[in-house]
Amino acid sequence: DKGGYKHFMAKEIAEQPTVSTEVLNHYIRRNEIVLPDAGLDFTAINRLTMVACGTAFYACYVAKYWFEQVAGIPVEIDVASEFRYREPPITDGTVALFVSQSGETADTLAALRYCAGKADKIVAAVNSTESSIARESDLVLPILAGVEVGVASTKAFTNQLMTLAVLALEAARQRGRLNDEQLAERIAALRSLPGLMNSALTIESRCEALALKLAEAKDILFLGRGIMYPLALEGALKLKEISYIHAEAYASGELKHGPIALVDKHVPVIVMAPRDGLFDKTISNMQEVMARGGRVLLISDAKGIEEAGDGVWESLVMPEVDPFLSPVLYALPAQMLAYYTAVAKGTDVDQPRNLAKSVTVE
Ligand code: F6R
Repeated sequence: DKGGYKHFMAKEIAEQPTVSTEVLNHYIRRNEIVLPDAGLDFTAINRLTMVACGTAFYACYVAKYWFEQVAGIPVEIDVASEFRYREPPITDGTVALFVSQSGETADTLAALRYCAGKADKIVAAVNSTESSIARESDLVLPILAGVEVGVASTKAFTNQLMTLAVLALEAARQRGRLNDEQLAERIAALRSLPGLMNSALTIESRCEALALKLAEAKDILFLGRGIMYPLALEGALKLKEISYIHAEAYASGELKHGPIALVDKHVPVIVMAPRDGLFDKTISNMQEVMARGGRVLLISDAKGIEEAGDGVWESLVMPEVDPFLSPVLYALPAQMLAYYTAVAKGTDVDQPRNLAKSVTVE
């Protein structure tokens, strides 16, 4: 049941404030983080290895920044198909974490089996708790997104992020890197996200208008720096899988090492730049793009857009958000731009060509 929406994807984008509230209520009681029994002793961890495919991998990529910056845990991330055949050594004190909406992705399951018996603990963050990946894990963290029908993952991605953010905060608390007051602040920021998502959803008609322009492009670049780089990757994936427009993401600082050669007036460049500690650097990369005739769509908050000055092609005004959590909020405009671009192109949004919801072959 599409609940009055034209596509499941639109419905699932709109459900994000609700399902993100549910996952927070599940893992946080007052100011205390509550993990399932047989929780995790993060003080005994030397390394966290996170493995997944596609959008779930990008959730791991964002979480790498969280675990490293907030909890001080070295994190390795890999796409499952590469991880398993590389046969990486699993050293003592490694926790292996697998992220999967379906819980049935063949490569992710095979990577899990590779780690079983080697890692100290196998943890799964899954939407389907009755899945193979859940069954074969020591600890299951449901992401509680509800059934996701659209092939392009939306609410599962943001709920994967919410779950991993909670886990990173718990790790930081256990490792003495956040006192009670600091933890309470981070939790308050997390709790503000569903409301901010509601505000972000109000830019939907702006996304729809911009999508008409994006739909004319053959290639689109996404740029982000720091924790926004994985979001740029996710934005490019979402766009290409449903609109069939070629899209690539680069870390902003990497642009001048090659990809800037692609820039001309025919290539829209979507810059995801919340006002965080790296904002000025991202903006100077954005100016390099504009100096070469690139058409920039800047996604930032009102102050960021003002500070960035004249010359951008288009902008999308986002609510202000704690920089730590900006990837969760900025997922929404990325999804909406992809969605409306696909609608403008008339593609089969919920069932894009060549793709399956659950990839059970390698
Ligand atoms: C993209 C998308 C895919 C999945 C990937 C992993 O929108 O949905 O990239 O994220 O196939 O699937 P799960 O999470 O079921 O393991």
